[in-house]
Amino acid sequence: MHVHRFEKLWLVAALVLIVVFIGTVTYGAVGAGFGMVGDDGGQVDPTNPQNSSTVKEPGVYRVAESEYDVYVEAKRYKFAPGTDSPIRIPANSTVTFHVVSDDVIHGFEVVGTNINTMAVPGQMAEVTAEFDEPGTYGIVCNEYCGSAHHAMAGNMTVVPESQFETNSTA
Ligand code: CUA
Repeated sequence: MHVHRFEKLWLVAALVLIVVFIGTVTYGAVGAGFGMVGDDGGQVDPTNPQNSSTVKEPGVYRVAESEYDVYVEAKRYKFAPGTDSPIRIPANSTVTFHVVSDDVIHGFEVVGTNINTMAVPGQMAEVTAEFDEPGTYGIVCNEYCGSAHHAMAGNMTVVPESQFETNSTA
């Protein structure tokens, strides 16, 4: 059977594209350091998450050398901590965010990082990330949650280790 030269060319091009697409998807899944947000945080009281034994008062908790837990409460229309005062953590630390919602579905995205999760009432979201360098990050809600959704934002400051003092300890 004779296959035309251009036909072969297109076949090869299509095969190359398929390989490239599979490659990019694979890289995105395992190579780029993205993790799926699971249900590890467990269920919490949907109307009052503070009632749940796994939820701590909003704040920063030191759990080990260079390891911190940050408990964040999202409610219309602020993050606590984050909105009224920035979340402060030291550089060179591993931080796990535990995010709960008090009312409706919110988002919790630390801009410029791959921290991006929903905060669903009744479920605690947990995301872990490393912060090596001092810097300032914005936090935004990216799930529509009401009339002031666009204003629901906060900040996070990664300070040099020498400038860090824990304001709350587990
Ligand atoms: Cu909270 Cu949008």
